[in-house]
Amino acid sequence: MKTMTRIFGIMGIVTLVSGPFLIVVLEKEFIGMIAKHKIYRVKKIQFIPFKPSNFKSQTEELKEREIQYIEMMNRTIVEDNSFYMSYTLDLTHHLQHTFSTIQGLDTENLSAWRGAHNKYFWNRHMLQSLISKGMDGFIMPAIRGIVEIASCNMNGKVFTFGIVSRTSTKRAGTRYIMRGADENGYVANFVESEQFAYYDGVLSAFLQIRGSIPLIWTQEANLKYTPEIKFLTDKQKQQTAFEKHFQYILREYQNNITAVNLCKKTGQESKLSELYTSYVKHIQGVTYNHFDFHNECKNHDTTKLYTMFLPSIKDSMRNIKYFSCRLQEIYELQNGVFRVNCIDCCDRTNYIETFIAKYMMMEQLYRMGITKSRDDKMENYPAFDQTFRTFWINNGDRVSVLYSGTEALKFQKSAQGLMNDGFNSVKRYFLNNFKDSERQKAINLVLGLVDINSKEEQEEVESPAQIVGDLLTF
Ligand SMILES: *[C@@H]1O[C@H](CO)[C@@H](O)[C@H](O)[C@H]1NC(C)=O
Ligand SMILES: *[C@@H]1O[C@H](CO)[C@@H](O)[C@H](O)[C@H]1NC(C)=O
Ligand SMILES: *[C@@H]1O[C@H](CO)[C@@H](O)[C@H](O)[C@H]1NC(C)=O
Repeated sequence: MKTMTRIFGIMGIVTLVSGPFLIVVLEKEFIGMIAKHKIYRVKKIQFIPFKPSNFKSQTEELKEREIQYIEMMNRTIVEDNSFYMSYTLDLTHHLQHTFSTIQGLDTENLSAWRGAHNKYFWNRHMLQSLISKGMDGFIMPAIRGIVEIASCNMNGKVFTFGIVSRTSTKRAGTRYIMRGADENGYVANFVESEQFAYYDGVLSAFLQIRGSIPLIWTQEANLKYTPEIKFLTDKQKQQTAFEKHFQYILREYQNNITAVNLCKKTGQESKLSELYTSYVKHIQGVTYNHFDFHNECKNHDTTKLYTMFLPSIKDSMRNIKYFSCRLQEIYELQNGVFRVNCIDCCDRTNYIETFIAKYMMMEQLYRMGITKSRDDKMENYPAFDQTFRTFWINNGDRVSVLYSGTEALKFQKSAQGLMNDGFNSVKRYFLNNFKDSERQKAINLVLGLVDINSKEEQEEVESPAQIVGDLLTF
């Protein structure tokens, strides 16, 4: 007997040990609307084997391996709560691009996905065989990141507020495996974060980007709490990677970047910062701003954010602005972008993005007619203030979980614990690092970067517990 199941989309096709599987979306969660477009999170997927008999006839060992792959992919796509889709809006592009150049991902236009941005099109590889067979109607790009949307009320005016963060598929991966830039200028933890408001037919959006320092460096996990940072010594390659990175983002973001570097001016991080500073001087179109966050905001004293940092970015804020439009009519274009980084591009970076976003938000709300005065403070609207802060904190946490496996704020707390907590913490820390490589592999599977027929893959991997056990019997 055949059974029928309703599906909500196709994630793609993946070839595992016994052959190809179709990955379908079985459940989706409605997140909210961006203008007139519904946005969903992928909540449950199913792997349907093309040839179920192949799967059944495998040896137990192969079956187990296959199940492991499926579980890994499931973790990346579903358990990280990070895949989002829309039937009518192309989430792979930021809103300014979508609403000023193309008409979203109109379901009427079955080939509209062709305009999608490969850099944020997470199931592009998995959809390749459908794409090459011209099955346009089944192609639905998914992004990986976080989308949060809420209905808010200020001064009796009800509007939609949200944040969309999309992580890049280039140099995608976990913290200690992916650091800095590759030779093509793609950097680790590169994320577009966009806050938007929609009110009375007007959409307003402000975009920021974050990404690892665009030089070639590594920091391999070991038993040290802060592993050593190592640089590629080939100056030519460094320079090329650095320039490619900036050429790329300058092209993408209206040839005007304000780079905010939040690394320390002392210790390991300072070497990276000094290099960054020396290379960035030669790049036209980049305004560079180095603010040693840890030092300037010691003991949680944020005074210098207002007296030092804010004045130094005021010009950029005025220049860059934000995007706003109504239907076909464009009111404002964002003219450039803030590129924020620290060492991991998690905690400090998210804090500063929130800081900048808050100023811009008040400007956006004023221009939409939601607040009455330019000098109005978000604090005057406790409910919105709360939503705004929660969304940005969640944004930081999600980006951090996807990159480092730990939530940003919790991580800060546990870091203290780690240093006081000797032996056990070493073990926990090592396990974390081990998880890094598993998570990396799961990401690579989704992106089609694992050759599952390679010798390496076919050799059995020892269990993490066993490895830790072996290592800790010194
Ligand atoms: C994927 O993860 C969800 C949530 O943990 C779980 O309920 C589901 O059974 C998993 N699916 C597969 C195919 O492993
Ligand atoms: C459909 O979308 C594609 C890709 O964005 C675009 O090139 C094409 O012009 C669109 N066709 C129509 C009829 O709108
Ligand atoms: C780019 O931004 C800088 C700093 O905000 C500003 O001085 C400059 O005029 C801008 N350039 C362009 C082309 O908009």
